[in-house]
Amino acid sequence: MTLTKLQQEIRKSPVVLNEWIGLIMNILKKNIWQSLKDHQQIMAEKHMRNLFAQDTKRFEKFSVKACGIFLDYSKNIIIDATMKLLAEFAEASELKTKIQDMFSGKKINITENRAVLHTALRNRSNTPVMVDGKDVMPGVNAVLEKMRDFCHQVRNGKWLGYTGRKIKDIVNIGIGGSDLGSFMVCEALKPYQHPEINMHFVSNVDGTHMAETLKKISPETTLFIIASKTFTTQETLTNAHTARNWLLKSAKDKSAVALHFAAISTNIEKVAEFGIDTKNMFEFWDWVGGRYSLWSAIGLPIALAAGMDRFEQLLQGAHKMDQHFQTAPFESNMPVILGLVGIWYSNFFGTSSQVIAPYDQYLHRFPAFLQQLEMESNGKSVTCKGEPAGYSTCPVIWGEPGTNGQHAFFQLLHQGTDIIPADFIAPVKTQNPVGDHHTILLANFFAQTEALMRGKTEQEVREELKARGVDPEKMEALIPHKIFKGNRPSNTILLQKTDPETLGALIALYEHKVFVQGVIWDINSFDQWGVELGKQLAKTIQAELVNDNEVLSHDSSTNGLINYCLGKHKP
Ligand code: F6P
Repeated sequence: MTLTKLQQEIRKSPVVLNEWIGLIMNILKKNIWQSLKDHQQIMAEKHMRNLFAQDTKRFEKFSVKACGIFLDYSKNIIIDATMKLLAEFAEASELKTKIQDMFSGKKINITENRAVLHTALRNRSNTPVMVDGKDVMPGVNAVLEKMRDFCHQVRNGKWLGYTGRKIKDIVNIGIGGSDLGSFMVCEALKPYQHPEINMHFVSNVDGTHMAETLKKISPETTLFIIASKTFTTQETLTNAHTARNWLLKSAKDKSAVALHFAAISTNIEKVAEFGIDTKNMFEFWDWVGGRYSLWSAIGLPIALAAGMDRFEQLLQGAHKMDQHFQTAPFESNMPVILGLVGIWYSNFFGTSSQVIAPYDQYLHRFPAFLQQLEMESNGKSVTCKGEPAGYSTCPVIWGEPGTNGQHAFFQLLHQGTDIIPADFIAPVKTQNPVGDHHTILLANFFAQTEALMRGKTEQEVREELKARGVDPEKMEALIPHKIFKGNRPSNTILLQKTDPETLGALIALYEHKVFVQGVIWDINSFDQWGVELGKQLAKTIQAELVNDNEVLSHDSSTNGLINYCLGKHKP
């Protein structure tokens, strides 16, 4: 019987036995964690150059293919024993059972008492998924149908504005999970975009964002989509009110709102209160987390831009990754591998950041999307039981599309003092076969991971300078600057093409990677209490900013800064 099977059997037994088993599992986890620490001491001495030289099968061994995605993780400071120990830790953390818990609708978001079922939104097999004894699939399918009908009308010029003109511009107003996912995907799927409809995304409460967007569009031909799970988010509602006022300034008649506004939300009352006809509302549910919501009606801008069929292909790709995640053994399970390799660096090499380098201009918002996905999910410091974690959790996620990053921050990746693990992502086939651009792009893509791994030794630098006839004295001074230690880890992710289905699989891959890491760190990846304090304080300060009184209610820095803005600064 495997450890996972044993754990599943035990779960069915009485609570007391369960608690005992929990204790034993914790001891097991502590032991494996210690073994990983010991193993890291050995691995820290190894150089990947040598690991490659010693094992001709290293690439075959440490690469995996699934759902149109090829992952090469051989350029990491790992050997078989590393992956084995990490997989054992995942097993002892009950990862397999926890995956099933998520897919089956168990309320794993414990602080909000909610199921986590973005996977049901892309459940193309349509098998029932139960929440509180009710199958959610009929509701999911009904919203998809409504989206299809709406897209058909807008994309075919049947949906008309208040002067009878077709829609030419669509403005999504939302923030965070109600913006980043659909914006990122719309950018990624630009080759599939409707030729006569322009997409715009307004998220920032800075009036500049809205003002600059409004300059480009006309009220007669614009459709606003107000995307907000709660429909209470200050930034979104402020922008939505500005958009409505702008429309009504031209239309002069409130009935125009029904023709130019749609809403995506879980909150029907607030949508109605805002004045949007609830016939134009697309529903989703509290078991869809904001940053996991692009698969829901929040993805409406994607469907409007690229067409409903393409949106469903996106869902299909994610569904395939869901199936892979649920069924593949850990050693060939792509999200599990990606998650475990990340843990290896964060918790055993002490790295604190992770760079994302998509060599695909269409994926230029992917790092920004992952920032929310990973950091809002796993930027936590207490365990599920509310105890201090006592170990590092989510690294800082950042990045830029290649090759731009090479001319900006790659210097630090190659020669900086810290190790920064990198994910390199590129499509094998380009959407735009222009001259030799794609060959050059891919050449750089492969060269960077090779350079990070190999580095350049003192001997190599010396020989190179000698061959160039550099004066010996100058040479000695230059050598330390030109050495690359190498041994810098990276994952290489190759997509056949950035098409809707492969993109769906890629996004789901990272969603599940985040899940795996959350399970290993024993944190709740699905709440975000850390964003609340700033929101509360902003409310108080907003009132103070419109009052003419000197502000004295905060610390001296905050008081001083507010008073400076109010022109009441006392030096
Ligand atoms: O402030 C964080 C957050 O709650 C995110 O989690 C969410 O995606 C975003 O705000 C927007 O929330 P809503 O969709 O409710 O407007």
